[in-house]
Amino acid sequence: MALQINPSILSADFSRLAEEAKAVEGADWLHVDVMDNHFVPNLTLGVPVVEALGKATDTPLDCHLMIEDPDRWAPQYVEAGAGSVTFHAEAAAAPVRLAREIRAKGARASMALKPATPIDPYEDLLPELDMVLVMTVEPGFGGQAFLDIMLPKIRRTRELISKHGLELWLQVDGGVSASTIERCAEAGADVFVAGSAVYGAEDPAKAVRELRDLAGQ
Ligand code: DX5
Ligand code: ZN
Repeated sequence: MALQINPSILSADFSRLAEEAKAVEGADWLHVDVMDNHFVPNLTLGVPVVEALGKATDTPLDCHLMIEDPDRWAPQYVEAGAGSVTFHAEAAAAPVRLAREIRAKGARASMALKPATPIDPYEDLLPELDMVLVMTVEPGFGGQAFLDIMLPKIRRTRELISKHGLELWLQVDGGVSASTIERCAEAGADVFVAGSAVYGAEDPAKAVRELRDLAGQ
């Protein structure tokens, strides 16, 4: 299992995005939260900012689309330079077609599940994906408390990935910190998004290293 730490730019200073992206070089991916104020009650950034971020850092971009109609928008994020694009299962009209399109355009295709969405109905789709994101908070805001009740879903997702012998990555996002990351790793997650735990720290690069050590134990 590849163990990866993806700092979320949502918790960074938006007036200094390029510097904030550089502050975590050494992380595996930079997690970019795109919100449209419809799928979630918050508004962040879109395609032009993703394009600019891609030019500002060598760290590949992991775009998490919390938007309606990802079928229409996701391919544009690949064109803007994202190396991985995550759409929400609850929002995609045709997830298989969309995952294929993202892959055909050259990015990793990933599907996210809100806390109330189970993984089992999506078992047959897993071979079409490169990653599953199990949300460990309700999407929309950084700095929320980790939902322990999501641990069984992380375990179940890992079980299904193993059952089918797939190479899929399993990402967790929301409330991941030094005090929760070990539980996530133990349940089978291997890609960890951390916003406030990284950008709220005095030394973000050091926070990334510490999280990586904890997850690897
Ligand atoms: C929440 C976003 C997360 C958020 C995580 O909807 O998807 O990526 O930035 O922030 P923390 O790590 O502070 O919970
Ligand atoms: Zn996210």
